[in-house]
Amino acid sequence: MSATETRPTTPEALSNTEAIAWFNELVELLKPSAVRWCDGSQAEYDELCQQMVDSGTFIKLNQDKRPGCFLARSHPSDVARVEDRTYICSIAKGDAGPTNNWMAPKEMKGILNEKFDGAMAGRTMYVIPFSMGPIGSDIAKIGIQITDSPYVVVNMKIMTRMGTPVLEALGETGEFIKCLHSVGMPLHAGVEDVAWPCSPDPKDKYIVHFPEERSIMSYGSGYGGNALLGKKCLALRIASVMAREEGWLAEHMLISGVKDPTGKTTYVAAAFPSQCGKTNFAMLVPPKEFLDEGWDVTCVGDDIAWIKPNDDGQIYAINPEAGFFGVAPGTNMKTNPNAMKAIETNTIYTNVALTDDGDVWWEGMDGEPPAHAIDWQGNDWTPDSDKKAAHPNSRFTAPLDQCPTVDERYDDPNGVPISAFIFGGRRSTTVPLVHQSFNWAFGVYSAATMGSEMTAAAFGNIGKVRRDPLAMLPFIGYHMGDYLGHWLDFGRHIPNPPRIFNVNWFRKDEDGNFIWPGFGDNMRILKWIVDRAHGRTSSTESPLGWMPRYEDIDWRGLDFSREQFDTLMSTDREQWLQEIASHDDLFFQLYDRLPKELTFIRELLVSGLWRSPEHWEMK
Ligand code: OXD
Ligand code: MN
Repeated sequence: MSATETRPTTPEALSNTEAIAWFNELVELLKPSAVRWCDGSQAEYDELCQQMVDSGTFIKLNQDKRPGCFLARSHPSDVARVEDRTYICSIAKGDAGPTNNWMAPKEMKGILNEKFDGAMAGRTMYVIPFSMGPIGSDIAKIGIQITDSPYVVVNMKIMTRMGTPVLEALGETGEFIKCLHSVGMPLHAGVEDVAWPCSPDPKDKYIVHFPEERSIMSYGSGYGGNALLGKKCLALRIASVMAREEGWLAEHMLISGVKDPTGKTTYVAAAFPSQCGKTNFAMLVPPKEFLDEGWDVTCVGDDIAWIKPNDDGQIYAINPEAGFFGVAPGTNMKTNPNAMKAIETNTIYTNVALTDDGDVWWEGMDGEPPAHAIDWQGNDWTPDSDKKAAHPNSRFTAPLDQCPTVDERYDDPNGVPISAFIFGGRRSTTVPLVHQSFNWAFGVYSAATMGSEMTAAAFGNIGKVRRDPLAMLPFIGYHMGDYLGHWLDFGRHIPNPPRIFNVNWFRKDEDGNFIWPGFGDNMRILKWIVDRAHGRTSSTESPLGWMPRYEDIDWRGLDFSREQFDTLMSTDREQWLQEIASHDDLFFQLYDRLPKELTFIRELLVSGLWRSPEHWEMK
């Protein structure tokens, strides 16, 4: 199709003048050979999946074992989010801050306009109208993604509410976030298509955000957060900027409901850096004794929360997503039975291994490894191979409502009321199992300085603590100092802000073994948290905040001694003084925009530690 000769038609439901103009402009720039407006229907999804089976992008899995499931294998250069190629192109460099890559918008547009010129030659340009959050919700936002990847279209169908109803909700003048994506491999004459097109040169990938314009341009990658632009790019980086301007929060948080025996559900939102079991916590199965008594945990979301104050003085959260894009390795019936059930059907697997009977496999799945499989790169694999069968960042994309414990209000346009925030990292020493911050500002301090020991060599030194404020380090679309200031202000303007809790499931004993059993037993801590949020249980004051005593935790069904608990909860003055001193590395980085309160809170914590015993233990 020659873009200038034949103007492609737009759907009847589209009346938004800005969207029409943007679309026409892009048809000329991208020079696709066809255009398809996605209606979001199941028929469209099925057709595109079949098209990808025919082209070799998808493998249809054994339909008896995995009905409606497909496997995709990416190019080996395109397996994860590329933080070093991710940019926040605010007008002023200072507004992106020291933790983001920055380039002047004009300079970046110069580069990208050249890249996108003719980028869709020989390909179909798909137009995906989507809503992050229930369509029409006051908290939701609309985006339109243009892409040349059918893999992206079908993933967006699972991860967002997409299609014609979104165009209707957008109306003539509604606002939308412009999301432009290309895999970066135009099919010029003589170029053969491949199963996973992308731009294999790592320097030729660009994940770019223009916060003032509310637009995103992504080039060269077809994988995950680089390409499904509703997720990290819109729902966190662009949304965080909008949230600050509009007085709400866009956070890297799961949302869980905790149902107590009276039938009342208390909702909590929790932030954990990657590799800390966030999806497992979101789908936690309580111990039998708790279930029998009527306790339960339900899932509203496993990755992102949008949180707004309401007229009743409470804050409400929605999960802007409609699906899970979870890491497969390590997921099994012990770590996460609900995820295993959620991904039995209608799931897209990416970069896991294929078994000889057309099923999927990954390291850490239940049972014995298969005697033979095809690995994520399409090669023969046996348990003797020195390579992994599944890529460590291999994923499943599955609809949220397939989770057996999905919360009945997951789709409520008003969201769910949040009573507590939980922050946790992976720390083998120093940080106790759980404590409640003294107040909102102390809580923001602890969240700002949370850190996690690195487990992947890709990040540098294994074991070294990486500070990851609110688990948002790669996802804040503006200056981190301003972000922390926004958190402090947010709590100040709510009459009764949620209590803030800090957890660490990963403390180890002297022999290097984890002390806390984790997984379902985290329910014991969650119960204390919920009870505290309602003022129903007691605690004791420590130098860091409020802590449960041994008798404040419900131990039914677990043999866990007072001594073990004391080890998990103890704080060592010397270690903590060093810990707090190391917060300075982050604070120095943010120096000119670091909220002053955080410096004062640090001093209060230090003086509290000096007044407490050298080694503080539960009494
Ligand atoms: C994710 C991440 O993929 O946080 O959710 O990296
Ligand atoms: Mn995440």
